[in-house]
Amino acid sequence: MPDPADRAPRGVILVTGAASGIGRAAVRALRHEGWPVLAIDRDRAGLERLSTEDRAGGLSVASIDLTVGAEVEALLDSLGPDRRLAGLVSSAARGENLGFLDLSVQRMREIYELNLFALARLAQGVALRMKGTGGGSIVNITTVSGLRANAGRAAYGSSKAAVEMLSKVMAIELAPFGIRVNTIAPGPVLTAMAAQLHVGPERARLLSRVPQGRYATPEEIAQGVLFLMDPDRSSYVTGMTLCIDGGMSAAGSFEPSAPGG
Ligand SMILES: NC(=O)c1ccc[n+]([C@@H]2O[C@H](COP(=O)([O-])OP(=O)(O)OC[C@H]3O[C@@H](n4cnc5c(N)ncnc54)[C@H](O)[C@@H]3O)[C@@H](O)[C@H]2O)c1
Repeated sequence: MPDPADRAPRGVILVTGAASGIGRAAVRALRHEGWPVLAIDRDRAGLERLSTEDRAGGLSVASIDLTVGAEVEALLDSLGPDRRLAGLVSSAARGENLGFLDLSVQRMREIYELNLFALARLAQGVALRMKGTGGGSIVNITTVSGLRANAGRAAYGSSKAAVEMLSKVMAIELAPFGIRVNTIAPGPVLTAMAAQLHVGPERARLLSRVPQGRYATPEEIAQGVLFLMDPDRSSYVTGMTLCIDGGMSAAGSFEPSAPGG
């Protein structure tokens, strides 16, 4: 393990979806551990609120729409060629509760545009820079609905399943450059997205599938981000999915409380 005294100054970690939920909790946890962070979101007011909380000077913010390629390129250019990027956490996504028979290709495209294509575009730009500067860590936030089939998640779940495989391919291609790529697949988390997606009887049905019987807090998911970002803790971890889901993805077909079977 490297002696912390020998370490070069830490590079910056980019976090998308930083104005809300898991992204916001990740920014706060990373800042708490002293990482310089660039918080990215299209919600300018949310980013301003985040900035006012952080007076130590290690947080910068960028208000862009990640689905607009030119805005992403301008952001990467604005970092300047000498700024070392240590990490990328891609948390921005859109969730939709749409049955397969009600799903239009247009709607599906819109969801894929952010959840898959925008994530890939930014990750590629970041990886190209990391490649020349000794590597880094990329963490893509997916979901249990990208690993297991859940009704109503035809577009959202399949977009996240694609991110799962994309991340594994990235992991093996980028390993020679010292770039690690992993995903975190949360179960239900108390955020704005969950409030919009998990409505009515779905909420109780979902919780009955979580052995721990509760939602996660965004801060619990951020702990996984800290682990995967820190080379002292996770230097040999790449191509993996870390499920932070209260046991949801491990559970079988019986109710978690039912014995035997
Ligand atoms: N909340 C859950 O229960 C849950 C469960 C599993 C996985 N996830 C995943 O966790 C991640 C974060 O979800 P959350 O619950 O924190 O969501 P959230 O809705 O609280 O936050 C998402 C953020 O992304 C930003 N964003 C959306 N579109 C954008 C765009 N085009 N450009 C820039 N920013 C944009 C929003 O402004 C918002 O701040 C997502 O990838 C989601 O799929 C969430």
